[in-house]
Amino acid sequence: MEKACYPGSFDPFTRGHLEIIERASCLCSQLTVAVIDNPAKRHLFSLEERKEMLQQGVSHLGNVVIDHFQGLLVDYLKDRQIGVAIRGLRDSSDAPVEMQMARLNRQMSGCETLWLAAEGQFLHISSSFVREIARLGGPYQNWVTPLVAQRMEAKLAQ
Ligand code: COA
Repeated sequence: MEKACYPGSFDPFTRGHLEIIERASCLCSQLTVAVIDNPAKRHLFSLEERKEMLQQGVSHLGNVVIDHFQGLLVDYLKDRQIGVAIRGLRDSSDAPVEMQMARLNRQMSGCETLWLAAEGQFLHISSSFVREIARLGGPYQNWVTPLVAQRMEAKLAQ
């Protein structure tokens, strides 16, 4: 596969996301990790902060680029001439929404979605639980990269 895209909000990027990125990068010649820029949504981290944490987290992968998009994912993919979206499935509860999005995206533009079954000790992790556990003083550091942990500490200290 030539180009693929892994989209998400990454607020913040976790080791669960990293596992999907590492595996997806082996399946294509170029993987674009596309951070959604939705000004209507309140994020803990700004777009630039989310991109910076991703950039640092994937620096060991030569064929991964970090980008962002606004609006419909399919419009972004068409503009970048990317035909495949990659998504990670953690368990069966992710499936209904993912299938719905995959069908909608395919009907809108012909874009295909490829799912990777998430694996390992990060299956139960989500960005919002990482944010909540961090805010409440719990140990979340094993689920994120050192830079994300550092940025979380700084953010929560503000
Ligand atoms: N490891 C760890 N966490 C994971 C994960 C994995 N493998 N896979 C998903 N998650 C978590 C995320 O951390 C996130 O947690 P949160 O809800 O607690 O913040 C949650 O699962 C959902 O994340 P993700 O699957 O990345 O979705 P998203 O909401 O971040 O992004 C978009 C969804 C951006 C891809 C989708 O909304 C989109 O395409 N929007 C653009 C508008 C559009 O085209 N709409 C029409 C869609 S048909």
